Amino acid sequence: MCGIIGYVGNRRAAEVLIEGLKRLEYRGYDSVGVAIANAGTIEVRKDKGMIEFVSAQLDFISIDGHIGIGHTRWATHGAPCKENAHPHASLDNKVILAHNGVIENFTQLKNDLKTKGHTFRSETDSEVIAHQIAEHVNSMPPLKAFLKTLNELEGSYGIAAIFADDKDEQIFVARRNSPLVLGIGKGEMFCASDIPAMLKYTKTFVPLEDGDIAVLSANGYKVYTLDGSETKRKQITVDWNVEMAQKGGYPYFMLKEINDQRHFINETIASDVVVAKKLIEESERIDIVACGTSYHAGLMFSYLLQQRGKSAQAFIASDYPFIVKPNQKTLVVTLTQSGETADVLQAVRYAKKSGCKLIAITNVVGSTITNIADNVVYLNTGPEVGVAATKTFTAQLAIIYKIIFGKEKISSLSDLFAQMMEKENEVKQIAAQLKEKQNLFFIGRGISVPIAYEGSLKLKEISYIHSEAYPGGELKHGTLSLIENGVPVIVLAPTDDTLPKLFGNLKEAKTRGALIISLTNDEKTKAESNFYIELPILDPDLYPFAMVIILQLLAYHVSVLKGINPDRPRNLAKSVTVE
Ligand code: AGP
Repeated sequence: MCGIIGYVGNRRAAEVLIEGLKRLEYRGYDSVGVAIANAGTIEVRKDKGMIEFVSAQLDFISIDGHIGIGHTRWATHGAPCKENAHPHASLDNKVILAHNGVIENFTQLKNDLKTKGHTFRSETDSEVIAHQIAEHVNSMPPLKAFLKTLNELEGSYGIAAIFADDKDEQIFVARRNSPLVLGIGKGEMFCASDIPAMLKYTKTFVPLEDGDIAVLSANGYKVYTLDGSETKRKQITVDWNVEMAQKGGYPYFMLKEINDQRHFINETIASDVVVAKKLIEESERIDIVACGTSYHAGLMFSYLLQQRGKSAQAFIASDYPFIVKPNQKTLVVTLTQSGETADVLQAVRYAKKSGCKLIAITNVVGSTITNIADNVVYLNTGPEVGVAATKTFTAQLAIIYKIIFGKEKISSLSDLFAQMMEKENEVKQIAAQLKEKQNLFFIGRGISVPIAYEGSLKLKEISYIHSEAYPGGELKHGTLSLIENGVPVIVLAPTDDTLPKLFGNLKEAKTRGALIISLTNDEKTKAESNFYIELPILDPDLYPFAMVIILQLLAYHVSVLKGINPDRPRNLAKSVTVE
């Protein structure tokens, strides 16, 4: 998973590339590089490390030129190091490109190229593409050489390439199962892996479709399909501003995004769910597929549908094809904030082959999932940059609730979020109790269970503390053996019909010495807790929204207290585009 940015126009390319790379860093940040063309040569500077450090070290800004490409990498082939960093060059340095995705037949292509005398500087699959284009460009114009190469590739790609000898100063881009969006300016063109990377300069975009190729120059762009015929793609304008994609005064994107929830939730609630609701009502069987946090929202969806007598089940997307044989009567619903998660895309493509209808609930306009789904519901929650999903989770829940209960039920969420944010200082004090702990458990029952899972995932993802979540009744079936003096158990104990039984589970843990931290509005539970966060009295269906805000804040503060950057947890990336 990586990020690409490209620019051609009157500005100094270095400036645009650096700005874009900073915005793209959430997609991967183990190495970074730029390539800028000027008077027949292309200067490439790249290294291991993050944009701020590498661009200063290598003085990116000093490179002259008005056309260039940049890349921020998250390693798939070859360790993070200078050689494997993008952009990659052909042997003669005449073709330079940046690539996202995985080329499945790269070993075969590489071996063929070796027999023709090519030597390689990196271990990447991406370098092979540059060499392959260079092979062809000796005997044909750049566009033809680019097209021919793309037709030889198997796997996924988002590519931006430039040619040293191209007097027309063009950027050649392509996408297949890896996002690429064009940005349209006046006398300038941009391309990037996502919209926020270009927002400082334009609000008009063209999301490319799978199999598209585009040629960009300062005067405009043309889109082609893989057979070389010209085609047209829809332009969209977005009303996000740069501020919305930046930290807005908060120390981390994650905290900003937790705070954002109260501001964006009404836009989410306004989202159109009419078609989705009808499809769900008419379906005999509903399979929900998603990963990570989105899976937890999917689990909530399945619980609420099951409570209403519907045949619905949530599946981890990567396992779906191994478990289920869907048929034409199966409605598949996917939740994916990015719309680019590879595990999700393979699961829904598998389902579509069996003739299923697909609803996608996503945040990203123009993402791959929006081209596959029969119906798309947008989260409308603005770009989420922090690796840990926060506002997209509550937005997913809000869409689910709108489909199930109608919008009246959730009309006061904004106020509820504001009320929960007032608890931040209390949460911080509890975070201080947890930061040195090695193991931690979350329990809940009923519709609190997906929230327990989500609280646990959030905490482990950004604080590196081992944690697990269970329906409360499960503790006694094995996990109780791990409870000893001082082990924290976070109990999701709102006053709903799960409380009497959950209280028993709390007592089981407490008797074994657990440090009980509860989210509750019940006096008896408070009395048994070492620490608690007071929940307001709510319609019981709404407690998940209140509790998840507290758990997001808790994970955030533990992370920060441990000196970890919650926006960029180790080994993880914002959207996971490999299986
Ligand atoms: C959540 O904090 C994670 N970063 C991760 O679990 C994420 O939810 C998962 O990768 C799915 O992403 P998606 O919603 O973009 O498909």
